[in-house]
Amino acid sequence: MNAKRQSSQPKWHPNIWPPFTQLSSSVPPLLVEAAKDALLLPKDQPPIIDGISSWWVTLHGHSNPYIAQAIASQAQKLEQIIFADFTHPQANLLATRLSKLTGLEKLFFSDNGSTAVEVALKMACQWWKNKGDNRSQIVAFEDAYHGDTFGAMAVGERNLFNEPFSEMLFPVQRIPWPETWWGDQEFENREKKVLIDLEHLLKTPTIAVILEPLVQGAGGMKMVRPEFLIEVEKKIRQANSLLITDEVLTGFGRCGEFFAFQRAGLKPDLISLSKGLTGGFLPMGITMARKSIHEGFLGDDPKHTFWHGHSFTANPLGCAAANASLDLLEKSPEKFLNFESRHLPHLKKIAKNPKVKYPRLTGTIAAFNIKVDGRKGYLSSVGKIIKSSALKSGVFIRPLGDVVYLMPPLCIKDEELEKCYIAIQKGLNSI
Ligand SMILES: Cc1ncc(COP(=O)(O)O)c(C=O)c1O
Repeated sequence: MNAKRQSSQPKWHPNIWPPFTQLSSSVPPLLVEAAKDALLLPKDQPPIIDGISSWWVTLHGHSNPYIAQAIASQAQKLEQIIFADFTHPQANLLATRLSKLTGLEKLFFSDNGSTAVEVALKMACQWWKNKGDNRSQIVAFEDAYHGDTFGAMAVGERNLFNEPFSEMLFPVQRIPWPETWWGDQEFENREKKVLIDLEHLLKTPTIAVILEPLVQGAGGMKMVRPEFLIEVEKKIRQANSLLITDEVLTGFGRCGEFFAFQRAGLKPDLISLSKGLTGGFLPMGITMARKSIHEGFLGDDPKHTFWHGHSFTANPLGCAAANASLDLLEKSPEKFLNFESRHLPHLKKIAKNPKVKYPRLTGTIAAFNIKVDGRKGYLSSVGKIIKSSALKSGVFIRPLGDVVYLMPPLCIKDEELEKCYIAIQKGLNSI
């Protein structure tokens, strides 16, 4: 496959600057003109299973006809409108549905996951300011990833990706994320230590604590127990602070329930949503806010208004896609409720491989680390070896360094899922 790939698609288009890519050393991209369900259909090559839902967004599968139809029919009625002076039925419907599903009464639209986080952070900061409270501390978790805009970078782990901007990012207090895995005996000690650190930090008046509920995604598919998160929230409530859950990755069934905060038993004040929101069809971000947060912005003082908005706020096509995606989730909840049991036998089997450590599973997300001697973490080269080996077997994955994971679309067939695991086993044998 590689030789063919080199000849048919030698390099990126000269005018394109691709994301997260070092052009001087990157593998050339594949040209894809179509994708259907769990399959990417590259030009002149066999289909490839999309094992990670195209950066975790493709929820029901590629080119889902129901969502495609909803977008097409909306496009012929109303494609875009300035949302500060007008509203439209799809936005109203989506607001009603997401308020009901999350239990948070107010919905604010933006464009992507990073902006959904920016909005949550700005709302939390300004809410306290509007009350005349000048607190400034924000608490986040080590290894967190919340996006690539400045506020989102500030609350994310400081690392290679944001190092050039480190002096421009606002200070954030950080505590470890006590990840756990199958067979882990030490989680209680780790969790206890973090909770003590958190209690100590929260003695300083704190704007908010932000976290990715149940699973830290880009930080390495690191999973924590719901019991830990419940204790985190207790400390937040005792300290009279706010809880922001970043559900950009974990929302819409990814973690085995509609939202991860529900599975974890949390009651967040602000929730950031994106990715699966539109079924992965169109870019859109949403921040859900508790009514009491919104009330802090009401009044005659112009300073109390939330002066934030985007050109494409509540884009009708995005709203139509989101409503159609919710239809599909509501029609067949078993697809995400039961996904864990589909991963389970395969992950159990692969966990026996001596090169595998820390197997873990939450909803549609299955992950493990590869035992490596050399460089660990994101820059470990083993992931690239497994990725290229899996591609030769017709499976696309994108390990995070030494962390291999699968996060397929809900529509993936049993035999396709099995093929993903076989491809990974084969990749493990090649290192
Ligand atoms: C938890 C989380 N928050 C925020 C983001 C940023 O989303 P976007 O890439 O749409 O800006 C991501 C993206 O992976 C994410 O996983």
